Order: sequence, then structure tokens, then C-alpha cells
Amino acid sequence: MSKHTETTGQYPVIPLRTEVQLPGHVGPLEIGREASVRAIEAATRDDNLIVIIPQKNPAVRDPGQRDLHEVGVRAEIVQVVKHSPGRFTCVMRFLERVHIDALVATEPFLVASVSKLPVTTAATPEQLTATTTKVRDFLLAVVTDAQSRASASSSESKEGSNPPKGDLTRAQVQAITDSDKLVDSAAPYLELERDDLTSLLIETDTMKRLERIIPSLERQATVLRLKADIGAELEGESSRTHRERVLRDRMRQIQEELGEQDDNAEIDDLRKKIEDSKMSDEVRAVAKKQLSRMSQMASSSPEYNIARTYVENLLEIPWNQFTEDRLDVSAARVILESEHSGLEKVKKRILEFLAVRKLAPQKHGPILLLVGPPGVGKTSLGKSIASSLGRKYVRISLGGVRDEAEVRGHRRTYIGALPGRIVAGLKKAGSMNPVFVLDEIDKLAADMRGDPAAAMLEVLDPEQNKDFVDHYVEVPVDLSKVMFICTANQTDTISQPLLDRMEMVELSGYTAVEKLAIAKNHLVPKQLGEHGITLEQIDLQEEALVEIIHSYTREAGVRNLEREIAAVCRGAAVKVAEGIPSVTIDKKTLEDLLGPQRYVSDNAERKPEVGVITGLAWTPVGGDIMFIETRVFPGKGEVRLTGQMG
Ligand SMILES: Nc1ncnc2c1ncn2[C@@H]1O[C@H](COP(=O)(O)OP(=O)(O)OP(=O)(O)O)[C@@H](O)[C@H]1O
Ligand SMILES: [Mg+2]
Repeated sequence: MSKHTETTGQYPVIPLRTEVQLPGHVGPLEIGREASVRAIEAATRDDNLIVIIPQKNPAVRDPGQRDLHEVGVRAEIVQVVKHSPGRFTCVMRFLERVHIDALVATEPFLVASVSKLPVTTAATPEQLTATTTKVRDFLLAVVTDAQSRASASSSESKEGSNPPKGDLTRAQVQAITDSDKLVDSAAPYLELERDDLTSLLIETDTMKRLERIIPSLERQATVLRLKADIGAELEGESSRTHRERVLRDRMRQIQEELGEQDDNAEIDDLRKKIEDSKMSDEVRAVAKKQLSRMSQMASSSPEYNIARTYVENLLEIPWNQFTEDRLDVSAARVILESEHSGLEKVKKRILEFLAVRKLAPQKHGPILLLVGPPGVGKTSLGKSIASSLGRKYVRISLGGVRDEAEVRGHRRTYIGALPGRIVAGLKKAGSMNPVFVLDEIDKLAADMRGDPAAAMLEVLDPEQNKDFVDHYVEVPVDLSKVMFICTANQTDTISQPLLDRMEMVELSGYTAVEKLAIAKNHLVPKQLGEHGITLEQIDLQEEALVEIIHSYTREAGVRNLEREIAAVCRGAAVKVAEGIPSVTIDKKTLEDLLGPQRYVSDNAERKPEVGVITGLAWTPVGGDIMFIETRVFPGKGEVRLTGQMG
């Protein structure tokens, strides 16, 4: 037994790869290496005493003297639990630190001769006492809490807090007079890293050892105090949501206290994107607030997803990003000319607009409303305007929009809520100054779900659209740099206030001559390209085009004309594929390809006749003459009207 109290001597050694043990407690130790198993077996045959020494480098398999620290811990084997042949868990009582003098054997296991560790300190006895008292007080606080948690977690295991690793009582702490022992006893409570533990193990200056543990003790004590404070708040509070909130607060406070960053990579990622984005400080603050809410929510909860989608939407809006305008009037003229024939009035208006823009860049431009029958190129003109300005082009179709939320977005509280079409358009454009073609603004319909036209009023008002508020986005979005071009077939159904904000440019229908020019310059080349036919392979004669215009289409615009040209191209494509090198399309072949004439206009050639009168019909999509005839029936001499014109 004398050997139990006598430090100096020779003991079997267990080198520890990753763990570091300090004396003063009882704990398990896993034994796996062959030599260590032998050492344990030898010790249990003798006096159950061994020395454990941490390795300097955990990767070394068979450590020699150089691989081990000079200080180890003498320990007594309390119990050995065998898992399988060659694998043990030993319950050890870690007795005290010892100095390793030398390894006296290496086979079949290490044996070391050890001596008492010389302990000194450079500090004065007063300093030492003061620091020891401080450490003891902190440790008492930690131990008290650990005890109360241990008793609480036995009744309520759900809370998930780590069970305290140390197992001291207050009385035991108060009984420790030796400063080094105090340090050793405190260590298990502190969740120290391996390096910190190692330096505590090999440090021989008591004062330094005390000082080394003070920061983590203090931190631990503060965290526990916070927990206790919040714990008191929880007392008697049964509402689940409240409880959850308080617990999350607690988690956050603890994280802050420990200086731990939120480890949620997604939130970090979003935070970085928010920092990098060009959003205004106001928007950034809103986004960050959502992030901090997110960091307190479970990532599987619906609220978390709502908040995340919201932040992602905010990030997708091209805050403060602008494309540079190309304010070159002559270049714009070339682009407009090359894409559309005719339309002189409209082109002139657009060039004027560009010129003014160049001279007074800060002024709000007018909002153009292109009105005209179908197929006269309103929508495609909008696209040309965008390309002539060098801006991004977004078409927003308003036809059949009945719900205000389509324009302004849904409130975020709705499931599946999204920003409205205006903000979606900005996201699509990727810049804050695109050209928005608000197509078919005359087809906006109002019903009881709110008036989308009223929302459009705000969008189109240069005084208000500087801070347009989408219900989903909630923060103001600046639309003042957007160029709006609206299109409509008629103005009757557009509300007066809306009409008032726009400058109307009328596109009337095309004459046959204009249609011919459009067909030659634009539609034919476009359709040939689309059908993969070259100019050598087809000879589309002018008389055929004229015939299509007169006898196969009847419209103000050129949409059907384009369609018929496409049909001709298809027919020609078949012939080319069959091996005919060049297909000629004249008036005659047209009938083979398109079928018999659809509109016969020989009426106009008729001579005036008794009982027939010529009427004129006009609609926005074109006009025609009609013949109204009288017929005589046997009767009572009455006149019966079968219809009415005008
Ligand atoms: N002056 C023109 N020059 C060249 N192509 C034209 C011209 N006018 C119309 N087009 C062509 O006619 C087709 C139909 O035009 P678009 O779709 O822009 O008509 P729209 O006026 O918007 O009609 P809707 O009112 O039905 O929407 C497009 O392919 C367009 O390129
Ligand atoms: Mg259109």
C-alpha cells in the first residue's frame, strides 16, 4: 500500500493519443492499442497503478520517449470492462501529476520511472491566495448550477443540455485548499480544448495555472447566470410558444456570450450576399432583421422558409444597378428603321424622346401609349425602343389581369405569396432602368378583388413611383428610372386618370402599299430564315405578295399577312426538300399553296343599280363597303327593315 502514497517509482505507461487527463476525478478511459492492453494487464496483476501520458502528436502509433510529454498523471485502475478481446474500458481514479524521468522499458509495453512534480510559483503568497479565492468562487457558482441541472435533467431529460462532466459538490470545492488541486478539479467543467488541457498539465507554476483557467471559468459562470435568469422567467409559464421564444433567446445570448458565430451556412451565405448587394441601407437593415429572425428559428419551420424566400427575393431585385443609356439619336434611328418599316410618326416621337433624354437626363420622360389595331407592331416596337436605347426589355402582359395583387404582390402572410408583376419585371430585367412594355393596358379588368388599374396609376405616376410599395416586398422600390411604354387596341376601356398620365401615339392600320413594303423588307426575310430557305431557292414575286394582301388577308395590321407568308414558305420548303432547286411563287402557284381566294373584292366594280345602295363600314381594325339591297315581295305595301347601319 505504501506505493499508493509514494509517487516516485516505476509504472506501466499508457500513452494517450487525443485525450488529456488531469488528476482529481474518476473517469473512463478507452484502451485499444496492444501495448496499452498489456500495460493494463500487468498493472491489474500488480497494484493497479499506472501512469498515463499524453502524446505530443496523436498520429504516432508507437510513441517513444520523445513523443511523450514530460508530465503525466498517475492513476489507479478502479474497474476494467472488457468489450471484446483486446478492447477495454477502464474506470480510473486519476491521482496526481508526476514528472516522467525516463522510459525504462518499451517492450512489451512502456514502463516509466517517475518522480514527484516540482511545483513552484513566482507570485507572492498574497497574490496566490487572492487568485485562488477568485477561482474558487467561480467554481462554486459553476458547481452549484451543474448540480441543480443534474437533478433537473433526471426529471426532465428533454432539455438537451449536456450533463455536467464534473461531479463535485459545493462542500467538496470549499474543502480544497491546494491551489493546484483546485485547478485540476475545475478543468472538467470548462470544456477546454486539448491544447489548453495539455498546457495545464505540464505547467509547474501554480499562479500561471490559476490564471489560465480564469477566462473560461468566468465565461462558464456568466453563461450559467444567464441561464438561471431566463430559467426563472420560464418558471410558471406554460404557454409553449412563449417558452420556445425564451429558449431561443437563451440560445442566442449564450451564443453571443461564447462569441460563437451562428453556424448555419445558409444564413451566413445570405448575410454575405446582403453585404455585397447594392441595396440601400434601409433595405439592408430590413434584410438583416429577417436574417436574425431566421437564426432563431428552426430551419424546417414554415416561418423560416417564408423569411428565407423573402430575403432571396430582396436580393434578386437589382437595387441601384443601372444599364447605361445609349443616347445616340442617329444610331437609334438606324435600329428603328431596320426593324420597322413606315410608322414615321411614331419613330419621330421616339427620336424626340431620346433627344430630350440626352439633353435633360434627370427629367422624367413621358409615358408613351401606343394605340392601334392588332398586328400593327405596337409590341414589337416597344422592343425596338429598348434596343435603340440600349436598355433591358421586359414585356408585362396586363391582358385579363383582374387582381390588384398581380400588380402589387400578395402580402407575405399568404401562403405562396410572391411579388407582383412590376417587381418581377425588375428582377427579370436585372436593372432598375429597363423599358417596360405594359402590353394590353386596355384589357385591365376591375372586379371586387381590387382595381389593378388603380395600382397601375401609382406605377405610372412619376410623382409616386419613386417609392412604389409592393405588398410583398414592403420596402419602397424606385421605379422612376423605368421607361414605361403602354400598348392598347383602344382607349375607351382605359380609365380616364390612367389615360391622363400617358401620351398617346396612334398607329393606324397600314395601307396595301405599306403592307407590301413591310412584307418585302421584314416579313419575307424573317419567314425565310425561320423555314431555312435561302433567297436562291425561292422566287417570291411581288404579284404574289400583292395577291396575298388583297385576297387572303383582311386586316389593319400585318399579322395574318405574316402567317400566310409563313404558309407559302412551308409549301416552298416541301418542294425544295423534294429536290426542286428553285421554286417560283406567282399569282397562280399561290392558289395551290393557300387554297382559293378568301376575300373577293369585285363588289366595288359593280355599277350603280336600282334598289342597291352602297354603305361604308368602319372599325378600328379596318373598313369596307357594303351593299344594301331592296327586294320586292307581294304584300300590303309596307316597308320592312331587316337591319340597320350606323
Ligand atoms: N411596321 C412594321 N415593320 C415591320 N414589322 C412589323 C411592322 N408592323 C408590324 N410588324 C410585325 O407584325 C407582327 C405583329 O406585331 P405586334 O405583335 O407588335 O402587333 P401589336 O400591335 O402588338 O398587336 P396586338 O394589338 O394584337 O398586340 C410582328 O411580328 C411585327 O414584327
Ligand atoms: Mg401586342
